[in-house]
Amino acid sequence: MASSRTLLLALAALAPATNAQNFGGSGRAADDFTYVQPLNTTILGGYGHSPAVYPSPNMTGTGGWKDAMAKAQEFVSQLTPEEKAWMVTGAAGPCVGNIKPIPRLGFNGICLQDGPLSIRVADYASVFSAGVSAAASWDRKVLYERGFAMGEEFKAKGAQVALSPVCGPLGRSAYSGRNWEGFAADPYLTGVAMEVTIKGHQDAGVQATPKHFIGNEQETQRNPTLDESGTNVIQEAISANIDDRTMHELYLWPFANSVRANAASIMCSYQRLNGSYGCENSKALNGLLKGELGFQGYVMSDWGAVHSGVPSIESGLDMNMPGGLGAYGMDPTLGSYFGGNVTTAVNNGTLQESRLDDMIVRIMTPYYHLGQDKDFPTTDASSGVLNTFFKKKDWKPEEWNMTGESSRDVRGNHGDLIRKHGAEATVLLKNVNKALPLKAPKSIAVFGNDAGDITEGFLNQKSYEYGTLAAGGGSGTGRFTYLITPLEAVKARARKDAVVEQHPDRLEQHDRPLEPHSPEVCLVFLKTWAEEATDRKHLSVDYDGEEVVASVAKFCNNTVVVTHSSGINLLPFADHPNVTAILAAHYPGQESGNSIVDILYGDVNPSGKLPYTIAFNGTDYNAPPTTAVNTTGIDDWQSWFDEKLEIDYRYFDAHNISVRYEFGFGLSYTTFELAELKAEALAQDIPAAPAAEPVQPGGNPALWAPLYNVTVEVSNTGDADGATVPQLYVHFPDSTPAGTPPQQLRGFDKVLLKKGDKTTVSFELMRRDISYWDIVSQGWVIPAGEFTLSAGLSSRDFRATAKITPVKA
Ligand SMILES: *[C@@H]1O[C@H](CO)[C@@H](O)[C@H](O)[C@H]1NC(C)=O
Ligand SMILES: *[C@@H]1O[C@H](CO)[C@@H](O)[C@H](O)[C@H]1NC(C)=O
Ligand SMILES: *[C@@H]1O[C@H](CO)[C@@H](O)[C@H](O)[C@H]1NC(C)=O
Ligand SMILES: *[C@@H]1O[C@H](CO)[C@@H](O)[C@H](O)[C@H]1NC(C)=O
Ligand SMILES: *[C@@H]1O[C@H](CO)[C@@H](O)[C@H](O)[C@H]1NC(C)=O
Ligand SMILES: *[C@@H]1O[C@H](CO)[C@@H](O)[C@H](O)[C@H]1NC(C)=O
Ligand SMILES: *[C@@H]1O[C@H](CO)[C@@H](O)[C@H](O)[C@H]1NC(C)=O
Ligand SMILES: *[C@@H]1O[C@H](CO)[C@@H](O)[C@H](O)[C@H]1NC(C)=O
Ligand SMILES: *[C@@H]1O[C@H](CO)[C@@H](O)[C@H](O)[C@H]1NC(C)=O
Ligand SMILES: *[C@@H]1O[C@H](CO)[C@@H](O)[C@H](O)[C@H]1NC(C)=O
Ligand SMILES: *[C@@H]1O[C@H](CO)[C@@H](O)[C@H](O)[C@H]1NC(C)=O
Ligand SMILES: *[C@@H]1O[C@H](CO)[C@@H](O)[C@H](O)[C@H]1NC(C)=O
Repeated sequence: MASSRTLLLALAALAPATNAQNFGGSGRAADDFTYVQPLNTTILGGYGHSPAVYPSPNMTGTGGWKDAMAKAQEFVSQLTPEEKAWMVTGAAGPCVGNIKPIPRLGFNGICLQDGPLSIRVADYASVFSAGVSAAASWDRKVLYERGFAMGEEFKAKGAQVALSPVCGPLGRSAYSGRNWEGFAADPYLTGVAMEVTIKGHQDAGVQATPKHFIGNEQETQRNPTLDESGTNVIQEAISANIDDRTMHELYLWPFANSVRANAASIMCSYQRLNGSYGCENSKALNGLLKGELGFQGYVMSDWGAVHSGVPSIESGLDMNMPGGLGAYGMDPTLGSYFGGNVTTAVNNGTLQESRLDDMIVRIMTPYYHLGQDKDFPTTDASSGVLNTFFKKKDWKPEEWNMTGESSRDVRGNHGDLIRKHGAEATVLLKNVNKALPLKAPKSIAVFGNDAGDITEGFLNQKSYEYGTLAAGGGSGTGRFTYLITPLEAVKARARKDAVVEQHPDRLEQHDRPLEPHSPEVCLVFLKTWAEEATDRKHLSVDYDGEEVVASVAKFCNNTVVVTHSSGINLLPFADHPNVTAILAAHYPGQESGNSIVDILYGDVNPSGKLPYTIAFNGTDYNAPPTTAVNTTGIDDWQSWFDEKLEIDYRYFDAHNISVRYEFGFGLSYTTFELAELKAEALAQDIPAAPAAEPVQPGGNPALWAPLYNVTVEVSNTGDADGATVPQLYVHFPDSTPAGTPPQQLRGFDKVLLKKGDKTTVSFELMRRDISYWDIVSQGWVIPAGEFTLSAGLSSRDFRATAKITPVKA
């Protein structure tokens, strides 16, 4: 037994476990070969097996990285074997992830910090709007400004790497606990948001880390279940089984934008993909990411997502975070799959040193490219104090260069931006009887447990009953230095005109008329929590919010409801005649109260649009998370993405299902009209398949070539100045393979127009925008025949159409 185990180990080490072996087992380390079972096609149900793609492509420096790459290569040439191992392995230290300094080479190390809306482990830093809010702005300028300002704060705190932004989850399931960290349930809008946010972060000098690659569409069973010893796997993590076309047209799409934006790093995900763990899936990392998309940066693991050494490295993983073993990889005293094992593997010939060198060159190229070798601020010592990721005994502060000023205030004037961004992202869903904007009401009553002060200190780290919500929980949250509540902002704004009656609670005795007379307006603030590591149980507002609205609306015929929510809420009270207005404000960040008051009083005309669909019933949504797997087989957690492209509006539209508020919907205090949709061809004799040009970051550059310039006239036809978002949807011709959604977003732009004004907006349709992924040729193909283009003010409100025939039938 012992000798056969040794033999298997040696074989596995020499020829790293292929993904084919991994499926049906675990895709785990060679030393966990016990779990490697033969491929069982019955379980696979026809698809779901991850092909082996080796070797891991070397970085080439294409796409503008060559100068920095030369510096990185020079750096690598000076490293000892041990230093090389530590360059790819996280260590305990002051940040949530740390690469050790090498003082000998003047290298201060690399500090990696959460997260997608704030530098989380920090004092005197801002909490920006969450991804879902930023996406609801549908505004490239807001997205860029936010990305840039966040980047400035990470840099000023001495963090070279921001673990941001998020496009996985994309929003396959309405219930996923992390949808709010990402942007929209649509790859196009999310792709633009990723690209612009990454440019913002990196223009500010900080490395962006798009995450989580890929298929991380639910939280339930995202990690394996271990036995009591914490080492043996009882059940493997969920496997997201995704067919090739769906992968390309939905989940990979925004990562392609991210790579094209020259993202420094990409974080691989916890769960399995076609049976093989996200951080050792060679098809995903070597094949899709480094091969097809030409990714030049480094693949970093999610925290504790590494389950093997050499097999992960051969599959394309470049950096193990946070480096150690134990739960979430946070115990360096237990050793590491990387670290010393990497040195051993090179020494015993299992791992080619050139692969290790490529890993470090990939890690150091962005560092030089962004000038992080010059005058980069040292890590703020306060981060080390606040960091609970590592036990203080496991690292020595004197080994890290934290010589700068401690507790630096890096917020600048970002509060003003956050206030503006929050207002611009607020979605007005209902507005009857001219309820909004408020016209200096003389009496206001404020209700709801989301109205008042927070009661759990600096963090929105857990769901709690009393206090407003401006962020969700987990690694994607922020640490508030202050949080303007709706109640305080309403009181401040109303002071000169109005009486404000306060009920910032949950369900009180609201079944009586207010004395001495009814308030002119009743503002009800409701909240909905979501956090990493669990999925949402329902799509209602939390804490009996629907009952709160009902009890207020019973006596108040001008009830205005505001939700602070992670995303989708069903909003049954939208039918109530006394509910005159509804605003979805999502998670706006630290200026929450000011942002909503700017909207309520009309200082800012609402222009946010839904980045997802609100259905009538939770059961209307397809693709719920896979939960309640009651069987105990090691491999029983399987999530078949067999809805394919039919998520969110793509599904509702394909089946003509009525919804309450569709994707892209949002009202304004004025009205708009669209006319004269025109498409001008920018190329002649367009071939169905792109020319095979050398791969650049983002893939074949021909996919990004603009083929049509589409223009539409937008006019403000109402009586207020305001902004709106003309949206372009593409309907593919009948020759496209079955399963193509009836309409897909392929352009948008936010425009501000004075009342009575008119302008022309243009959208560039790129080759990828009018192609489908052809599984036979393994490439993007423009289908033959006539496309219809629709310009609308939502995904179900088209105002103008045009036809194009790029490729004749
Ligand atoms: C494959 O899986 C199916 C379903 O779990 C099982 O019935 C069958 O026995 C398995 N086949 C093999 C060869 O293990
Ligand atoms: C997943 O399985 C499908 C069907 O076999 C295959 O087309 C696709 O390439 C696989 N993807 C990955 C990442 O393994
Ligand atoms: C990467 O480059 C090294 C030389 O530095 C070479 O030996 C190796 O074969 C290359 N790997 C690939 C996958 O091209
Ligand atoms: C090497 O990896 C094993 C797990 O496979 C671990 O137990 C051991 O501690 C690691 N060695 C080092 C030096 O980190
Ligand atoms: C080489 O080292 C690696 C990492 O410690 C180990 O997993 C592997 O078993 C070793 N292989 C041989 C042939 O000694
Ligand atoms: C710490 O970093 C600063 C700024 O890069 C540098 O000037 C200083 O020499 C470093 N100190 C040590 C002890 O490495
Ligand atoms: C609406 O509010 C008025 C009080 O202004 C109340 O009389 C009426 O019953 C309410 N309507 C509903 C449907 O609750
Ligand atoms: C709402 O209620 C107020 C006071 O109760 C009343 O004056 C007003 O006419 C009502 N409005 C509507 C539209 O019913
Ligand atoms: C939602 O749908 C389910 C199943 O179709 C049904 O039982 C339930 O009553 C519906 N809920 C609402 C509020 O319509
Ligand atoms: C698991 O058990 C629960 C409770 O008995 C049941 O509701 C659920 O349908 C079961 N799940 C599956 C996949 O059989
Ligand atoms: C949806 O409605 C359209 C237009 O009314 C119709 O052409 C189409 O066949 C319907 N699709 C389904 C799945 O019912
Ligand atoms: C598209 O059309 C607009 C409006 O005519 C024009 O301003 C823009 O330059 C055009 N873009 C391209 C790429 O031709």
